[in-house]
Amino acid sequence: MNVTPFWLAGRAETGDGELTVTHPYDGRVVGTAAVPSPGQVEEALAAAHAVRAEAAALPLHVRAEALAHVSARLAERAEEVARLITGENGKPLLWARGEVNRAISTFRFAAEETRRFSGTTQRLDTDPAATGRMAYISRVPKGPVLGISPFNFPLNLAAHKIAPAIAVGAPIVLKPAPATPLSALLLGELLAETGLPAGMFSILTVPNDRAGGLVDDPRLPIVSFTGSVPVGWAINDQVPRKHVTLELGGNGAAVVLPDADLDWAAQRIGLFSNYQAGQSCIAVQRVYVDRSVYEAFLPKLVDTVGGLVTGDPWDDKTQVGPLVSEDAAERVEAWVDEAVSAGARILAGGTREGAAYAPTVLADVPADAKVSREEIFGPVMTVQPVDGVDEAFALVNDSKFGLQAGVFTRDLDIAFRAHRELEVGGVVIGDVPSYRADQMPYGGVKDSGVGREGLRSAMADYTEEKVLILTGLPL
Ligand code: SIN
Repeated sequence: MNVTPFWLAGRAETGDGELTVTHPYDGRVVGTAAVPSPGQVEEALAAAHAVRAEAAALPLHVRAEALAHVSARLAERAEEVARLITGENGKPLLWARGEVNRAISTFRFAAEETRRFSGTTQRLDTDPAATGRMAYISRVPKGPVLGISPFNFPLNLAAHKIAPAIAVGAPIVLKPAPATPLSALLLGELLAETGLPAGMFSILTVPNDRAGGLVDDPRLPIVSFTGSVPVGWAINDQVPRKHVTLELGGNGAAVVLPDADLDWAAQRIGLFSNYQAGQSCIAVQRVYVDRSVYEAFLPKLVDTVGGLVTGDPWDDKTQVGPLVSEDAAERVEAWVDEAVSAGARILAGGTREGAAYAPTVLADVPADAKVSREEIFGPVMTVQPVDGVDEAFALVNDSKFGLQAGVFTRDLDIAFRAHRELEVGGVVIGDVPSYRADQMPYGGVKDSGVGREGLRSAMADYTEEKVLILTGLPL
């Protein structure tokens, strides 16, 4: 099997080691990725640092064209890329194809935002002392970006690190998740076709135990991390003087109110608790249903979950495939077993086969069970009746996480109330918390993180305002 190279300052390279990528569904080897030596990592960081002024000065049309090129090439190679994702991550082709489409949009949105990336002016002669003065305010990159991307969306979440960096003219060093490096490395191949300056991008398959050195390195003043809560906050503590963006976990809640379309709510909650085997930070984990519709809603939900097509991720019809590893599925199993021992009832699922865990619905779950309080990151939801909006919103907020929440209602007053009161980064009305449009601000509060992605937000995050004051103007 060929070794997939990593990208060092825009060049394909092999290093002094390899990592083997296996398919979660059957454990077969799907690829081997080259691992850079410490010397090669040093070379990539030095190149990113050296090119920073040239990168910042790149004309907007050059950046936009590079981003549009990656978008177009992903579209041309969409099926191949989707198969790469399914191979390394195990997510069914249905979701892998969706992820490729999203990454095509992520790069396209970045190209569009690049063309809108402009300065502003501010007249200063509002004060007599500043007569004849005006400020031109532009946004300049804070410096090269270290992006650390996770396994659950190995292409699109890498795109969310790379695309805004190029858009603002910042060099980027990306460290993909070691379990799923292949689709990020393919992005390197497409970026290398663009003629961006050498050093502007490196994609380094550095093992996790060597990532601390990247985080510490002063030549990478921005760290944008997507991944687990403990690792994310440890990075923040490790480098308090750096600009750190954290997109971390959640235990997404959906609220079903009496005016909701119950069929729609059951279909959406049933599917989006289990899409990608629940391995999304905004998968539905906690479901709060108004008591007046609970008995009508529950069978619809259980039927939807029971009807999901599970199994081989290569089958076009499969909706729920394996988790990323057997260890991950065993952890989910242990948490469900713990909840059941504490009194929870299994209404659907509750079984494991290798790395696959059956789509599971739990009722009567104690509030302190891990499946309620922690992020399960598996195909498991808890469902609970509530007495009205006050109780529902209090329960949504009774979480250390705050990424997104979904509220199934048609009442505009409740929609605005949800927006005001729910302690999350985003509220979705009429749908699940799992809805994400790649161009919108995305991120959390509380333990779920700090900062926002979404192209315009990430571009603001990677830059700071710089002022030019003009004097003696005939204003
Ligand atoms: C995540 O798991 O944080 C990303 C979710 C998404 O991009 O849909």
